Amino acid sequence: MKRIAVYPGTFDPISQGHVDVVLRGLRLVDRIVIGVAENTAKAPMFDLATRLEMVRRVFADQPRVEAVAFTGLLVELAQDCGACAILRGLRAASDFEYEFQMATMNRRLSPELETVFVMAREDYTFVSSRFIREIARMGGDVSSLVPPAVLPFLPNQG
Ligand code: PNS
Repeated sequence: MKRIAVYPGTFDPISQGHVDVVLRGLRLVDRIVIGVAENTAKAPMFDLATRLEMVRRVFADQPRVEAVAFTGLLVELAQDCGACAILRGLRAASDFEYEFQMATMNRRLSPELETVFVMAREDYTFVSSRFIREIARMGGDVSSLVPPAVLPFLPNQG
């Protein structure tokens, strides 16, 4: 039986840190479904279709990775995909509180679904989509922070 994990996020935009988490996850499971959340509460810079398109381009040559958009509960997406786990990345201790709350709530909603954390590579611990958006908007170079396929989507690059 194939092991599937769901990797959810806003991906506004997808960063090298996110890619690193997916590559680490692929060592643990057979397939990863990247769930791009609508997340209107965060007022994303990119609309859902564009965020999904960016993720799909990044993993276009990775047959074990699929990307889907979702607007409902993460646990429902996981169930629909037949996933046994939720994959999340941890950068620093400051991520823990939020991740702990989310993992605990998701376990309450779906007790058989395990949240698995992987630690991002050291040189990506400071990378966040928020900083990438801010730096790009202000004309800074973010080429080392996002996958090459994402760069054309960002303002003031190249
Ligand atoms: O990249 P982010 O913004 O940290 O990801 C947050 C995300 C998408 C994982 C979270 O907002 C989420 O799971 N949204 C889907 C709705 C849901 O299931 N909410 C209950 C979470 S306990």
